[in-house]
Amino acid sequence: MTALLLAICVAMQKRGAEKETPGKNVKAGKTCKKDMDKLIISGGKRLTGEIPISGAKNAALPILCAGLLTGDSIELQNVPRLHDVTTMLRLLRQMGLQAEQSGEQVILNGNAINKCDAPYDMVKTMRASILVLGPLVARFGEARVSLPGGCAIGSRPVEQHIKGLEAMGAEITIEAGYIHAKAKRLKGTRIVTDMITVTGTENLLMAAVLADGQTVLENAAREPEVTDLANLLVKMGAKIDGIGTDRLVVQGVDKLHGASHAVIPDRIETGTFLCAVAATGGDVTLTKARCDILDAVVDKLCETGAVVTKGADTIRIQMSARPKGVNFRTTEYPGFPTDMQAQFMAVNCVAGESSHITETIFENRFMHVQELNRLGALIKTEGNTAFVKGVDKLVGAPVMATDLRASASLVIAGLAAQGETIVDRVYHLDRGYDRMEMKLAAVGADIRRVK
Ligand code: EPU
Repeated sequence: MTALLLAICVAMQKRGAEKETPGKNVKAGKTCKKDMDKLIISGGKRLTGEIPISGAKNAALPILCAGLLTGDSIELQNVPRLHDVTTMLRLLRQMGLQAEQSGEQVILNGNAINKCDAPYDMVKTMRASILVLGPLVARFGEARVSLPGGCAIGSRPVEQHIKGLEAMGAEITIEAGYIHAKAKRLKGTRIVTDMITVTGTENLLMAAVLADGQTVLENAAREPEVTDLANLLVKMGAKIDGIGTDRLVVQGVDKLHGASHAVIPDRIETGTFLCAVAATGGDVTLTKARCDILDAVVDKLCETGAVVTKGADTIRIQMSARPKGVNFRTTEYPGFPTDMQAQFMAVNCVAGESSHITETIFENRFMHVQELNRLGALIKTEGNTAFVKGVDKLVGAPVMATDLRASASLVIAGLAAQGETIVDRVYHLDRGYDRMEMKLAAVGADIRRVK
């Protein structure tokens, strides 16, 4: 067992070292090598053993941007090794932020920032680049950030980020696809966003911490990733009340200082592996996990018949029967996360009963449905609801990943299916899962990557 773990660690390190940055990969009109990677899965294996959970992608990305808010050093632990993190570091480095990365540690220093630009070429590969807007205007009084545009799961506008900054006194013009924001010093105010927005809350929070006076963010997102960012900002000297609630009250300060912080464990990666076991059967313990931020998903897993046992930083799932189909509806935290909808749908595909799933956050987040149906699933969609009729078995086939969480759902379905599933366009998965196929192989899945 120890030898097996050692072999996996060595393989992981080798792969980590071989990783190419998206900057080197993505050249206009050319297909990069990583884009050609596929996962080959031989389904039907029970999963048993332990999987360590990595740091949360959606906490790490805003936290890296918080490095723009100070000239001192920020030392970060538990930063996941993902393509999106590499892309964010590349964006921040081209602004002059120094970033030293060693394994899961990143040390940032923002004392030599000389550019307040986020160019289209970078923003178009990762929407979370918009998170530089708030900190840049707050600290340097200026930012020029490409508009992100739509993506596979929805149109995803950012007008709430802009509305909030304007309310704080920023002058904003949109020209030639860029948001240009200027402000001598942002002024605290009360902002009520039209809807709950995660990165919108994070952007405005990072703007408010250096603003003049008090900012109240009403209708704020309560996602644990927002809380993690707020906790880091407090360590940097920010004054924030109401952390974890939908009303954040910020007293702006003149300056922030250095801090050290460990990124929270990824609740979506955790939920994804839990769903994999619920679909295939098995007994797996997830380590380095947080049990208190995944209640909605765990409750639904228990309804499928899984036995879930929470420890201090572990979650164990035991599944010995075919899952029961479970109805759910995605909502903002603490409700069922949209980022888990596709993976849980894969569980429902092999359930003994029919179920229905309603997606309320994004207007186009059912792209995985057609691909799951290629594996023999019986899913129909009507508007924002998917009706899933559980089948006795899925049968392996070639499928194509369309976005990050859709890719994860295809992997889960492939693990549960009979025969061979080939998942194409694995680069979507690499954006947000840290060596997923190696973690799954370590608990007995027959899964490998081919170039
Ligand atoms: N919205 C607007 N206008 C805005 C902002 C948001 O209409 O100005 C809408 C969106 O179009 C969407 C809803 O509000 O319909 C919620 O969007 P939100 O702004 O909360 O999403 P986000 O901040 O762009 C983050 C995560 C997503 C996750 C969503 C919802 C990061 C980097 N991304 O996106 O993660 O799905 O919150 O929880 O934190 C993923 O990891 O796969 C992923 C897509």
